[in-house]
Amino acid sequence: MTKTKDTSLRIRPGRPLRGETEVPGDKSISHRVAMFGALALGTTRIRRFLPGADCLATVACLQKLGVGITWVAPTELLVYGRGLGGLQEPAEVLDVGNSGTTIRLLCGILAGQRFFSALTGDASIRRRPMERVTKPLREMGAAIFGRENACRAPLAICGQTGLLRPLHLVSQVASAQVKSAVLLAGLFAEGWTRVTEPCISRDHTERLLAAFGAQVIREDDGLTMAVAGFPELRGVDLEVPGDISAAAFLLVAASLVSGSAVTIRGVGVNPTRDGVLVVLREMGGDIRVENRREVAGEPVADITVKSAALHGVMIQGDIIPRLIDEIPVLAVAALFARGTTEIRDAGELRVKESDRIAVLAGELKKMGALVEELPDGLVVHGGETLRGAMVESHGDHRIAMALAVAGLLARGETTVRDTSCLDVSFPGFAFTLEKLRR
Ligand code: S3P
Repeated sequence: MTKTKDTSLRIRPGRPLRGETEVPGDKSISHRVAMFGALALGTTRIRRFLPGADCLATVACLQKLGVGITWVAPTELLVYGRGLGGLQEPAEVLDVGNSGTTIRLLCGILAGQRFFSALTGDASIRRRPMERVTKPLREMGAAIFGRENACRAPLAICGQTGLLRPLHLVSQVASAQVKSAVLLAGLFAEGWTRVTEPCISRDHTERLLAAFGAQVIREDDGLTMAVAGFPELRGVDLEVPGDISAAAFLLVAASLVSGSAVTIRGVGVNPTRDGVLVVLREMGGDIRVENRREVAGEPVADITVKSAALHGVMIQGDIIPRLIDEIPVLAVAALFARGTTEIRDAGELRVKESDRIAVLAGELKKMGALVEELPDGLVVHGGETLRGAMVESHGDHRIAMALAVAGLLARGETTVRDTSCLDVSFPGFAFTLEKLRR
């Protein structure tokens, strides 16, 4: 695998993946610890923080909000908390880059402030739907403006003179970003703010807010989370678990390339995120999860994967939020599995960093794949031989990595163009893969 000057990645099939590795810290958790640390009293020390572009955008936004942050190592930082009422009006527009988590969670936090703030991001962020957070936040009393009646960024949030009102949001989408934005605004509302989801999305906000000292309750229906307003949050010292969404690319690559055996140490295996393990096993994957332990209130384990003959499966329903970010690479696994795989109920993929359904179908077809696009998913016909091709990332980190994995199995050379986006979530992806193939 070679990186070229024009940020293309060239991949040739060949050697198996063998050995041990770690993956960078979890992206969702890195964002949240930095943000909650800013709202806490005292210092928060974060180890194995993901220094990817998305989380660096969160750090930069917090700094513009007056939060002191010091790097003590390349993946370790100190956040000097300012307390719930201590953020300052930013003198500049807050630029979230490519990060949906940054803009949506910050909307929740900024909705409760007494000052003006404006948020924007790159072209992908400015296309993505924001109404899902701005609408409930407006119902809580926030004054939010933006393009298309606050459906798209740039967004402007005008300071509150009074308190936000607590809300019970019954959300139509299982989205951790929506849930988190409302729960975070709930920190600035008197009483309990509640969010009910159609099925459960990643629960890092709930776990971490509790670790910082907030009162957070899961109600008896299992789908409703409630947070009490105006907690006293206290800084924490924690290590971020390895990102299972980054590990997924290695898990699929090692499953597919024969002769592979890889152990990934310290991966987060939160049950709201572990769908990739469930599905790969159902496809016949050889995956062992060992040495389970808890880090920062999150389950963590070492995962060993060996190559195996995979077969097609149906992926749909409640498991979708547990593997939503892993669908691009699971589609690649399906291409090399026996039989057909159907992915349904995944319409959310159309509003990620790119329209992942259209982009996957389009790019994989360039390699000779038999893939059909559905409104809410994909049908992938496995067992075809892929040929190396020139494919495009569309500026989407998970598409770039999924295509690189496909390239490991294709005949000839694959070039993935425009891979600077890899820095969003997995800086060192190409290096890690090469190290394992040595
Ligand atoms: C994330 C939630 C998910 C996920 C994204 C990160 C988070 O998005 O796809 O990569 O950190 O809360 P949605 O909330 O839009 O489902």
